[in-house]
Amino acid sequence: MKEYNTLDDFNLEGKTVLLRVDFNMPLDKESFEILDTTRIKRALPTIKELVEKNAKTVIIAHQGRQGSWDFINLEQHAKATENILGKTVRFVEDIYGETAQNAIKNMQSGEVIMLDNVRRYDGETEKKTPEEHAQSELVQNLYPLADYYVNDAFAAAHRKQCSLIGFTAVLPSAAGRLMEKELATLSKIIANPEKPSVFLFGGAKFSDVIVTIERLLENKTADKIILTGLPANAFLKAKGINLGDKNEEMLAKEGTSENYQEIKQLLEKYKDGIYLPVDFAEQSNTNRNEIEVSELPTQYNLFDIGEKSISNFKDVISNAKTVFLSGPCGVFENPAFMKGTQEIFTYVANSKVFSIVGGGHTVAAVEKLGLQERISHISTGGGSLEKFMMGEKLPVVEALKKAKHRF
Ligand code: 3PG
Ligand code: MG
Repeated sequence: MKEYNTLDDFNLEGKTVLLRVDFNMPLDKESFEILDTTRIKRALPTIKELVEKNAKTVIIAHQGRQGSWDFINLEQHAKATENILGKTVRFVEDIYGETAQNAIKNMQSGEVIMLDNVRRYDGETEKKTPEEHAQSELVQNLYPLADYYVNDAFAAAHRKQCSLIGFTAVLPSAAGRLMEKELATLSKIIANPEKPSVFLFGGAKFSDVIVTIERLLENKTADKIILTGLPANAFLKAKGINLGDKNEEMLAKEGTSENYQEIKQLLEKYKDGIYLPVDFAEQSNTNRNEIEVSELPTQYNLFDIGEKSISNFKDVISNAKTVFLSGPCGVFENPAFMKGTQEIFTYVANSKVFSIVGGGHTVAAVEKLGLQERISHISTGGGSLEKFMMGEKLPVVEALKKAKHRF
């Protein structure tokens, strides 16, 4: 028995369903075109099932944040969904006003519409409880027109926002198929990862990673941590290694002295659990030049891990039963610095380990390398996945659990 309802628990024939998805997409900065439709494809099973069961599906989604350059309406998102679904998805340029309400009232069974960017509503991003959000204009105007609320937005499950939790207080609510799959797969890993488990962190940010690593080691979710990318640089700096001006500048954008203190403590406490690079590839002119950690500092940017590190990390992974990849090992967009990411990710994909990948850039790297079929679970989550991995409760999941007892 699941702790929350799923689509199996409702008779959807002819019913109106408010479906909250996460179709927040990477856009082209100039043309504003959608660059990647993974999140739509992954939510397709839910939309298809609602259509096949003759429900009237009202999609609610967000794009960007108020004030950000990628905060646009959802006309393109509706078009992209229509193309992937192979069925009309009408875009309604309204969220809960008369236009939206009439559109919902006039729907036929099996039809799908998409309302406009729900973050155009100011109350959307307030952090409140489901009961408080249920009093909002958004929920009060839409819920009387619907029979059910379905949440399939795993990637936004760490947010306490209005359309993500408010409806669960007033409508019978269920998790969609993507949400179900993400939670089932990830819970299994968190509760009982096949051991040994190795977590690799890379990418271009490091301050949030420190506490994640600490929790993973503390909970024994992770046995070993491999660091690449900026997190590796930060850990080496905390050990007192001078990386050279250019690399120190990159770290300074984010790091505080407190961060380095935390890292030092982590390294002392988990001496044998954290693996760092022993060499790097630096960008001298435009070439890839490998350099040992003992040869640092350098005047050049460190853009990838070196061959010895690649080989060491493969050894660590070769004994693992579960591997989690979060962040590329270097600047993989540049062919000269793709090697670390390519070799490590390919090694993981070709081995028998249970592999999990999450976060926008990591998924993009996996797709660029054509490895997506050989990864055990590709999560749509970034922030939500990280929170979940750390053992934090996700507000959307808690709201869905509560709703199961309410109706
Ligand atoms: C995401 O892509 O991170 C989710 O859609 C949540 O969006 P947010 O980080 O702007 O809240
Ligand atoms: Mg985000």
